Amino acid sequence: MSKLSWFEGWLERKEKYARAQDKFLSEEKFSAIGVGTGLPAISQKSTFSFRNVKDGADRFLGISQSGEKPYARIYTRLGNPTTEYLEKALFQLDCQHLIDAALAADEKRPTIASLVCSSGMSAIACTTLAMVKSGDEILCGCVYGCTDSFFRGLEKFGIKTHFIDTSDLETVKKTIENNPKIVMFFMETPDNPTLKVSDIEAISKITQPKGIALVVDNTFATPYLQQPFRLGADIVVQSLTKYVNGHSTSVAGVILGPYEFMSNFVFPVYKDFGPTPSPFDSWLNAQGLQTLHLRMKRACDTAFELSKRLENHPKVERVYYPGMPSHPQYELAKKQMRLGGGMISLELKDGFEPARKLMDYFASHTTPAELAVSLGSVITYFQHPASMTHAGVPEAARIERGITNGLVRISVGMEGVETLWDAIEEGLKLAY
Ligand SMILES: Cc1ncc(COP(=O)(O)O)c(C=O)c1O
Repeated sequence: MSKLSWFEGWLERKEKYARAQDKFLSEEKFSAIGVGTGLPAISQKSTFSFRNVKDGADRFLGISQSGEKPYARIYTRLGNPTTEYLEKALFQLDCQHLIDAALAADEKRPTIASLVCSSGMSAIACTTLAMVKSGDEILCGCVYGCTDSFFRGLEKFGIKTHFIDTSDLETVKKTIENNPKIVMFFMETPDNPTLKVSDIEAISKITQPKGIALVVDNTFATPYLQQPFRLGADIVVQSLTKYVNGHSTSVAGVILGPYEFMSNFVFPVYKDFGPTPSPFDSWLNAQGLQTLHLRMKRACDTAFELSKRLENHPKVERVYYPGMPSHPQYELAKKQMRLGGGMISLELKDGFEPARKLMDYFASHTTPAELAVSLGSVITYFQHPASMTHAGVPEAARIERGITNGLVRISVGMEGVETLWDAIEEGLKLAY
C-alpha cells in the first residue's frame, strides 16, 4: 500500500500499457515524431485574450477547450502553445507504445502527461516537491551535483535522503527494507559522472510492491537510447538543455508522469513556483528534437571508437564507457540501452596533474572541443567533475562514488573521431 495517493490507480494502467516487451520505439517512428510536420510558431506572449467571461472562467477551472491542454491559453506561466508542441512531441517519443496500447484498449482516462520546465533542475524540484512531505524519505543514487545538493537541502524541511549505489541491487533491497518511510526512488542511469548503469526493470520490481515511485533522470540516455516507462519507471525527468537542445543554446527540462500525479500534484507546484520555459527556448528544443536521433547516433559511434582507443593508450589508467565490454554493467547496458551513449569518463595515470594539463589543452581556442560543463552539444566538452559539476557533493561521498580528483568527463560532440583523437593524443603528449 503506497503512501502516495495516486500510485495505486496508476499501477493498473502502468502494467497494462506502459511496461513493454519491446525496449525501444523503432528508429523510423522515433525520427518521424522528432522531425514532426512543421515547427510551431513562437508564441512570444505572456497572456492570451479570452472569448468571453465564461471562456476565461472555464479555462481557470481547467476545462479543456476543443482538445487544448487544460489551463492552456490563460497565461504563459501556466502553459504556452509553443511549449505544448514540445510537450506533445516529448510525450510521444517516450510513450508512443503506451498511447497506442491505451487507444487499442479503448481506455477513456488519460494515462500520462508531460510538462516542460525552465531547466532540468526545476523539473526535478517540481517532481520532488509534488511528491514528498515532511517525514517522508527519498532514496537517491549517484546523481548530478545540483540534484545531490537539492536533496540534501530538503533535510531542513524534515525530508531525509539516503544516498546509495543504485547499480547494486542488494543495497537497493536492503535500504528499502530498512527504511519504510521512503516514498521516492530517484536515479540516473547511466549516472553522472561515473557512468554506472542501474537496472531500471529490476529496481521497478523492488519499488513497486512497496508503493515507492521510481523516478528516472534520463538526461544522459535521452529517449533515443533508453525508454524508462517500458522498463517500469513511474516518472521520467530529463534536462533538455543537453542532447535535446543539442547546441547549448537554451536551458530547459521535462517531467513525464502519471496523469493524476501530474495534474493534481505537479501542476499546482508548477503553476505557483513558476518554472515556466520561455516560448523561444521551447521552439529551440522542438528544433533540436528534429535531429536528436542523428546526433545521438553519431555521438555514440564516436564515443565508442574513442573509448576503444583511450583504453589502449599507455597514459590512460581507466575508461568508463557503458558500451565497452570492460564496463562492469556492459551486459545490462546492452539490454537496456540502444547504444552506449555519448559520454566517456576516464582517469589518467598519475592522477590530477596530467588530467589538469589535458583539460587546459582543450581550453585553448586552437584545439577542437572546449573546457566547459554541460553536455550533449555538437561541441565536445571536457570537464573536471570533482571541482566543477560535482563540487557541491561532500568530499567523502564524492570519493566513495569514484569521483576522484583525477576523473575527467568528456561529452562527445560531432567533430569526428579522427579530429578528436588527434587532439587527445596531442593533449596527452603535452600532459606528461
Ligand atoms: C543528469 C543531469 N540531470 C539534471 C541536470 C540539470 O539540468 P539543467 O542544467 O538543465 O537544470 C543535469 C545538468 O547537468 C544533469 O547532468
